[in-house]
Amino acid sequence: MVFKRKGIIGLDIGSRNIKVVQLKDVSGGYQLEHLGVAPLQPELIVEGSILDAPRVVDTIKSLISSSHIKAKDVTIGVSGHSSVITKRIPLPQMTEEELSESIRFEAEQYIPFDINDVNLDFQIVGFKEEGNQMDVLLVAVKKDKVNEYVSVVKDAGLNPVIVDVDAFALENMYEINYELKADENIALVNVGASMITLNVLKGGYSMFTRDSSVGCNIITEALQREFTLSYEDAERLKQGETIEGVSQEDVSSAMMSASEEIVTEISRSLEYFRSSFGHEEIKEIVLSGGGALIKDFPALLSERVGVDVRIVDPFTNIQIPDSFDKGYLKKIGPVVAIAVGLALRRVGDR
Ligand SMILES: Nc1ncnc2c1ncn2[C@@H]1O[C@H](COP(=O)(O)OP(=O)(O)OP(=O)(O)O)[C@@H](O)[C@H]1O
Ligand SMILES: [Mg+2]
Repeated sequence: MVFKRKGIIGLDIGSRNIKVVQLKDVSGGYQLEHLGVAPLQPELIVEGSILDAPRVVDTIKSLISSSHIKAKDVTIGVSGHSSVITKRIPLPQMTEEELSESIRFEAEQYIPFDINDVNLDFQIVGFKEEGNQMDVLLVAVKKDKVNEYVSVVKDAGLNPVIVDVDAFALENMYEINYELKADENIALVNVGASMITLNVLKGGYSMFTRDSSVGCNIITEALQREFTLSYEDAERLKQGETIEGVSQEDVSSAMMSASEEIVTEISRSLEYFRSSFGHEEIKEIVLSGGGALIKDFPALLSERVGVDVRIVDPFTNIQIPDSFDKGYLKKIGPVVAIAVGLALRRVGDR
């Protein structure tokens, strides 16, 4: 082959960290090929909007080169309650072909955006005996959101081939690493700097997703206010470093009270799931994102919500060559969970 494909990379453009992962298909699964994380200056991406595209482009370029990535094809993820909607809707049974013809019409009543402003996708996720009904998972993503992210990726010299949704990337990552049990509800929860992405699975199917615009930034901001610190110093404190004149005890208590707001948001979403889906119990929260690394946060979440919390290891079932530092991967794992999910996508899959 003259034009040997170099594979597809998963690129997760967060407001605080840009992550890249490339996986190789090997017999029986996947092998990690490349991985990189690059911090982004604050204020370049705010509330999901790219405010300073040239600097985001530069960060992506240097991350790709420092991660020794040669591939150009990329899967990116989008998220955010103001630009991504996923909904399970009941419809009369029909073929996929029939559905693709009528989906715009069906979607119109479920989507709070102008139908002309969104890209639509769907998946048939189950059939019901009674009344010849089926459940369809509907996904709508605002076109301008896609264009915004696609354009920085192109400007970085890459070729976006798939646009996925973060909540589903999380689900794909979970599926290859953990065993799905038919009647268990599992809540996948990614706590990033500016956002919480949540996806509740039942028997391996997504029942409910929600993105909330609350994230670990509120902890950084609380530390800045409380101890009159720069953003950088507050971040250092948050990651467990010490700063002269600030007691560890005061830091812990400020972090805990700021974390309550994140916990409340997650708890509210899970409560909504329980009340809308027949008061079903949630077996486990699988936690990812930078929030999973905050000391005491997973324990606080578990205690408040009353559900076991497991910190995700997105490499559980991925072969790791000796050239990677396993300790580092263990530590960074939760932060790259969505990037791993994006890296699993292949052109033409579903
Ligand atoms: N070791 C650590 N200890 C404490 N907090 C950490 C640690 N590592 C990262 N964080 C926090 O996690 C957050 C970054 O997480 P992540 O990379 O998941 O966010 P992001 O994807 O860039 O943001 P978003 O997608 O929400 O815009 C930051 O707020 C950071 O302070
Ligand atoms: Mg993120």
